[in-house]
Amino acid sequence: MSLLHHTSDDAGLATAAPAVSLRGLTKSFGRDTVVDHLDLDIGKGEFFSLLGPSGCGKTTTLRMIAGFSDPSEGSIMVGGKNVTATPPHRRDVNTVFQSYALFEHLDVRGNVGFGLRRKGIDRRAIGQRVGEALELVQLADRAGSRPAELSGGQRQRVALARALVNRPQVLLLDEPLAALDLKLRRAMQVELKAIQREVDITFLFVTHDQDEALSMSDRIAIMNNGVIEQCGRPEDVYESPTSVFAAGFIGTSNLMPGTYADGSVAVCDGLRIPVPAGHGLGGGEQVSVAVRPEKIWLSELTPDMVRVPGTVVSSSYHGATTQYLVAIAPEVTLTVLEQNLPRMSPEDRWTPGSRVELGWLPEHAVLLR
Ligand SMILES: Nc1ncnc2c1ncn2[C@@H]1O[C@H](COP(=O)(O)OP(=O)(O)O)[C@@H](O)[C@H]1O
Ligand SMILES: [Mg+2]
Repeated sequence: MSLLHHTSDDAGLATAAPAVSLRGLTKSFGRDTVVDHLDLDIGKGEFFSLLGPSGCGKTTTLRMIAGFSDPSEGSIMVGGKNVTATPPHRRDVNTVFQSYALFEHLDVRGNVGFGLRRKGIDRRAIGQRVGEALELVQLADRAGSRPAELSGGQRQRVALARALVNRPQVLLLDEPLAALDLKLRRAMQVELKAIQREVDITFLFVTHDQDEALSMSDRIAIMNNGVIEQCGRPEDVYESPTSVFAAGFIGTSNLMPGTYADGSVAVCDGLRIPVPAGHGLGGGEQVSVAVRPEKIWLSELTPDMVRVPGTVVSSSYHGATTQYLVAIAPEVTLTVLEQNLPRMSPEDRWTPGSRVELGWLPEHAVLLR
């Protein structure tokens, strides 16, 4: 009875402690603060992405979590344990770097088992764990190959196996797919996500590629200038951006700046865009309305849509879609993405100069300050 009680208590505690907790995490180089008071909790088993432009502080954040760089301020917890002052090799994390330097003189098996041998683990156990890790990244048949004999994607997998073989609580991945060409990168994204599910290790994945973050992550933190602008599920950050930066960085966003008054935003003389209620604005504020290109319709408008007249400026065919630029005011041009349906012919597409009516559902307009 008491044992049972104890067990359920422990389980409760285990699920309560996040895999990674950052509190006020800050890094300054001289007068430059490049990571600025980050607060973040990453759940156990989560695939969490840190997404932001080059130079926003992603690598610096990972290096502090790994222990390669000391924070200027703040704390880092891994699995509920404060590791802020713990040396890197004593932290339960492993890193896959952007440049996955492999030992060229060792074969694949030797590269993957290297860390375990240094820890003094016995040979049989090493052999088994290396075998499992290679199985996981589908390289079991290349165990005896040298890195020079492998493709870029295979070398990447060796680096991944080398990190996973340590069974860390948290795996830090710093743009691990950036060096691969687009097709291979897409394939590796799917594979990496599947591996993460299988091993159930928390992944903290750094990327500047928004498609990559959207397709792989349970949650995404959008980082800019050392701070997190928005954090949420891919759907949340895409559908409901909370800042102009977030709206512009993830996907393409049509931004219509203007002045708010009485439930709509005056974009220019004679053009008012209605926006959903619940924003708490009084009137006179400078804001922007954002609408995603694929939420805008050019035909088959329904009565519940917001309607705006415009002129097609350009049309470009992308196979599955056609992208239009439509001017709705002298300074405001919207991007509209239309699916090319099976029955459509080239004549069905709008040509530059066409007068059109744009429509979108009121709830697809997001108000940004
Ligand atoms: N050791 C360092 N000394 C001085 N500045 C640095 C150092 N490391 C990084 N920085 C600066 O910190 C900022 C963030 O860098 P980084 O974390 O590498 O960005 P990201 O990985 O998002 O591209 C950059 O402006 C970079 O120049
Ligand atoms: Mg970086």
